[in-house]
Amino acid sequence: MAEVKFFYGDNVPLEMHKVRIVQKLDLVPVERRLEAINEAGNNTFLLKNSDIFLDMLTDSGVNAMSDRQLAAMMEADDSYAGSATFTKLENKIKEIFGMEYFLPAHQGRACENIISQAYVKPGDIIPMNYHFTTSKAHITLNGGLVEEIIIDEGLNTTSDYPFKGNMDIAKLRALINKHGAEKIAYVRLETGTNLIGGQPHSLENMQEIRKVCDEFGILLVLDASLLADNLYFIKTREEKCKDMSIREITRAIADLSDIIYFSARKLGCARGGGICTRNKDIYMKLRELITLYEGFLTYGGMSVREIEAITVGLEETMDENMINQGPQFIAYMCNKLNESGVPVITPPGGLGCHLNAMEFVDHIPQSQYPAGALASALYIVSGVRGMERGTISEQREDDGNEHFANMELLRLAMPRRVFTLSQVNYAIDRIRWLYDNRKLIGGITFVEEPKVLRFFFGKLAPVSDWQTKLVEKFKADFGDSL
Ligand SMILES: Cc1ncc(COP(=O)(O)O)c(C=O)c1O
Repeated sequence: MAEVKFFYGDNVPLEMHKVRIVQKLDLVPVERRLEAINEAGNNTFLLKNSDIFLDMLTDSGVNAMSDRQLAAMMEADDSYAGSATFTKLENKIKEIFGMEYFLPAHQGRACENIISQAYVKPGDIIPMNYHFTTSKAHITLNGGLVEEIIIDEGLNTTSDYPFKGNMDIAKLRALINKHGAEKIAYVRLETGTNLIGGQPHSLENMQEIRKVCDEFGILLVLDASLLADNLYFIKTREEKCKDMSIREITRAIADLSDIIYFSARKLGCARGGGICTRNKDIYMKLRELITLYEGFLTYGGMSVREIEAITVGLEETMDENMINQGPQFIAYMCNKLNESGVPVITPPGGLGCHLNAMEFVDHIPQSQYPAGALASALYIVSGVRGMERGTISEQREDDGNEHFANMELLRLAMPRRVFTLSQVNYAIDRIRWLYDNRKLIGGITFVEEPKVLRFFFGKLAPVSDWQTKLVEKFKADFGDSL
């Protein structure tokens, strides 16, 4: 979206694309929504798409693709080995990241599996700005320990600090000094830090991390799944980078990394993933695991059509007018909610708008999952599906005790180029109504709780009849409106 100034009234984010294919949506009545969320065990992952109006669960694999991506998919060269389609992607990676070697994988967590198996030994420490669910799960499965060393400001829910995803360099040094460099498998930097509200790191912070890694001979692994948003924030918030092109910023980030991996369900607006490096030894170490778990080296579990789409998607990511759509829509939503007093994470980040459930429903104790309860309530009153990013997304301690999350967030992801501004305005309206009626929301409790990644298929139930009361108030205020 271009920086276009409106002459009368509010500046609104203006799309630099037009819609040419659409999908019909339904908004089922509130009574059905109440039924549906309970059939789904109050877990928005288990809702059926036919019951959902605006799907703000994630941006993973659901960003709108461009006409060029779709056209490229028709040209895919479908061969098991030596596919010309794969060579195109490999060349695009070389051009953009300056990295010689590329290993394809079917999605982001597959890359995490491979990297963790190759580098994490029992007892190893993996410092990172902040964990992502699947990244932590793979490290833990291999016996490693995740140490989160995000700057203190990162966990401050309301702030105007531009780079809340930065790593605390003093804490990084302290960790290395405490455990010894040989115990550190690698340092992981997550760009556009997912679980703390899509918050970016700065290029300067990455340069400082690199210096420490060089000093101690430690690998720096970049999780670039949310790179597109982070590039936009570096360009617009980091004074020293304002005259750099998106391509130059990307290259500067890549030059600081030993390994880059990404989910192409996010980066590149397609479906797939991959690991890049310029180091042949690293490549050789990871190569066998790719063929063992993912597929041959020229497809790695992806369809060749998706590989074509990723190649074009990565090129399109170098266009500021493309990557700014998400952050600008998110800023619009966050700012409108903030102005109405609704507690959201600030400054607005990438990925989505994050409601701060700890404040929104401050009467619900963390043991009754405020963010999960808020996700359930919002679905009932709007048909909008968000994702709990709080204690339910954590895993219990080994002794069975609950591990309370640092933040209780309801993430409302903004799939790129998918929703219109009137749909975003609808979501804002229902969230404001819910905030005015927040005392009606109650807690939820597990009735089925898987041990690993419980947020995906765990089932919960309300602790009282609060959902029925919420529907009664909704009917009283909205009458026959859906
Ligand atoms: C930062 C980050 N890393 C890794 C992943 C895992 O990627 P995938 O869902 O493709 O397995 C995600 C997905 O949301 C992510 O946001």
